[in-house]
Parts: sequence; C-alpha cells; structure tokens
Amino acid sequence: MNIFITGGTTGIGLALAKLYLEEGHRVGICARNLSRFPSEIRNKYKLLECYEVDVAKREDLFRAINEFAPKELDLIYANAGRSVGAKSKTPQFSVANEVIDINVKGVLNTFDVALEIMLPRKKGHLVATASVAGFMGLPGAGAYSASKAAVLKLCESYSLDLRRHGIYVSAIAPGFVDTPLTKQNNHKMPFLMSAEKAAVLIKRAVEKKKVLYIFPFRMKIVVTLLDKMPRSLYRMIMNLKMFNYSEE
Ligand SMILES: NC(=O)c1ccc[n+]([C@@H]2O[C@H](COP(=O)([O-])OP(=O)(O)OC[C@H]3O[C@@H](n4cnc5c(N)ncnc54)[C@H](OP(=O)(O)O)[C@@H]3O)[C@@H](O)[C@H]2O)c1
Repeated sequence: MNIFITGGTTGIGLALAKLYLEEGHRVGICARNLSRFPSEIRNKYKLLECYEVDVAKREDLFRAINEFAPKELDLIYANAGRSVGAKSKTPQFSVANEVIDINVKGVLNTFDVALEIMLPRKKGHLVATASVAGFMGLPGAGAYSASKAAVLKLCESYSLDLRRHGIYVSAIAPGFVDTPLTKQNNHKMPFLMSAEKAAVLIKRAVEKKKVLYIFPFRMKIVVTLLDKMPRSLYRMIMNLKMFNYSEE
C-alpha cells in the first residue's frame, strides 16, 4: 500500500509509520522540521519518503503528496497537530489561530489533496487524528477542543458523503498518549499509554474501517459520560478544584 502520514516525525505519527514500514508498505511522512525524525529509521527503510512541509500550506502539501503517490494513494493520516501549550484562563488568540490553522485547515488540506488522487480510482481511506478533547469544551484549551470537535464532525459528514464514491473515512479520538505533545502538560493524565501501543490500536481500528474510534476503553467511558450529561452538571464538575488547573 501507499500510505501518507502528516506529522510523522514524532509521537503517534512516527509510531504508525514504523508499523507500516515493518509490514513492507511504502510510507510518506511530512512535518515542518525533518531533523526531528530519527535518522536510524530514515536510513533503515528504503520504502520511506520524507517531506518538509507545513500542512497549513495547501500548495506545498499538494506537491509533496503528488510526488509521493501521484496516481495510487491507499491510505492517508491527517495526523499533524498541536496543542495550546500552557493552559490559560485568558484566551490566547494568536495561539488559537495557529491551532485552528494546523488542526482544522491542515486536515482539510490533507483530505482535499488526497481526494484528488483517490476519487478517480474510487478507492482510498482518509483518517484524521481527532481527540477525546473534541467531545467537550475543556477548561484552558478552548481552541484545541474546538479544533478536534471540528475534525470529528468533518469526518462524520465525509464518511456519509464519500462512501458512495468508494472512500472510507475514520476519526481517531485518543485519550492521553505519551508524546512530545503531552510532555508539556503539567496536569494529571489518566490512562496514559505509549505511542507504540496507541499506534497498534489505531492501525487495527483503521483496518476494521471504524468511522469513529475512541480509546483507551476506560477513557471512552469517562468521555461518553461527560459528553452525555447535562451541561450544567459538566460545568459544575469542571469547576471542582481537582478537575480544574492553576495558571503558572
Ligand atoms: N498525545 C496525545 O495525548 C494526543 C491525544 C489526542 C490527540 N492527539 C493528536 O494526535 C496527533 C499527533 O500528536 P502527537 O501526540 O503524536 O504529537 P507530537 O509528537 O507533537 O507530533 C506532532 C507531529 O505533527 C507535526 N506537525 C505539527 N504541526 C505541523 C504542521 N503545521 N505541518 C506539518 N506537520 C506538523 C510535528 O512536527 P513539526 O513540529 O516538525 O512540524 C510532529 O511530527 C495530533 O493531531 C494531536 O492533536 C494526541
């Protein structure tokens, strides 16, 4: 298979790339700074292509994906993303704009470019890494929650629209995964799992063509309860000291 993974130099994207390369697939990855990609992996796999591209820039992404697989692209992960960094009780609008550019527009650009290649063949699979944060407005992380909510809804809609064109769409909603992104967190991260374990679970869900995959299971239960409860109760819980955060 030809598989492209945005944000493939670290964390979940890197772990996914390694899994597919080990199975003998052709893998393309991109990120803004390729020097973060482990050189031993770059040297080890002949079927790996790396591109220094910002997913927020559609034309650059178009060139990279079309160089990697101009005619046959089987699977693409719109995985590149960023968090809001340190949580703040005052909205940080410049950070919020960057988060939306990468986490939402980056996914749109990735799907847009991939579909140009997939639709003529009536075959392909679009996957986006959303987050459990997309199910509720988390304190201190409004832009991140909003960006991942947008990704969840985009994927739900596209899965309905594109199935008749032979295209599958999956949204992946991880809980806490141990990556450079979560290393910045100074709060508790229940059910934290390694990027390698997360990648195995994601790959399995994608093979099953799941439209939505929330994991780990214990986080799925917590998130489902928080999502379905009356919003006044949710706000009451989030205002409890143990769930809220303090600014540094
Ligand atoms: N870790 C978690 O607990 C968790 C939970 C839920 C969802 N997620 C989501 O999972 C995805 C992967 O996150 P991760 O935890 O693996 O984080 P990570 O280790 O920080 O990886 C992020 C990757 O995205 C790349 N990236 C960031 N901005 C980019 C841009 N504008 N253009 C191209 N590449 C870009 C980064 O490389 P450069 O910085 O060099 O560009 C890096 O390769 C993200 O969408 C994140 O929101 C993570």
